Amino acid sequence: MSITDVVYLPEEPAHDQAIEEINAEAFGPGRFTRAAYKIREGGPHDMALSFVALVDGEVVASVRMTPVGAGEGQAVLLGPLAVRPKHKNVGIGRKLVRIAVEAAEKAGHGLVLLVGDAPYYGPLGFERIPAGQIAMPRPVDPARLLANEIVPGSLAKLIGDVVHADLARQLA
Ligand SMILES: CC(C)(COP(=O)(O)OP(=O)(O)OC[C@H]1O[C@@H](n2cnc3c(N)ncnc32)[C@H](O)[C@@H]1OP(=O)(O)O)[C@@H](O)C(=O)NCCC(=O)NCCS
Repeated sequence: MSITDVVYLPEEPAHDQAIEEINAEAFGPGRFTRAAYKIREGGPHDMALSFVALVDGEVVASVRMTPVGAGEGQAVLLGPLAVRPKHKNVGIGRKLVRIAVEAAEKAGHGLVLLVGDAPYYGPLGFERIPAGQIAMPRPVDPARLLANEIVPGSLAKLIGDVVHADLARQLA
């Protein structure tokens, strides 16, 4: 398979089952205990900013984006990102991140947040969030709390408990 055989599309409800299988395979049952999962329980992800990669019509990778808020700040939480083992290391993961960040920017979002490995996400524009600035609903290694600041100043507004945007609006 070459990278040119991969088709990237916005997520649709019909992709749900395949995405669930991909995430189960990538993260196992432990995925339900993750901090980001807890936030995503607070409301839906944004389908318009979430994408799948297809090879021969089959979903082989997915990235989801969920609107969140903390303090005065707003962001989209990127994840889960997962690629089927057979299709790893051909650039699909990086491409999905780039597409999702670009879509977030076009939709007017100023900040993309995630919990992940800095060596992977650093070259994609993500930097470590200052320790103690935000709090996730479950323990997270601060070195894995990363943000891509699309609009300068948007990260400084994100302070305190990160919750789903629907909950943030209720709390405001
Ligand atoms: C992480 C993941 C999404 C990467 O997807 P992918 O399509 O294989 O990645 P790409 O092809 O875009 O990039 C591959 C490169 O990233 C590197 N890489 C992969 N995972 C990495 C990690 N966790 N940390 C640092 N580098 C990583 C690979 O070694 C490879 O490096 P190279 O280009 O120098 O050879 C995929 O391995 C996966 O689904 N893993 C399981 C789920 C997961 O951990 N998701 C991320 C949650 S934060």
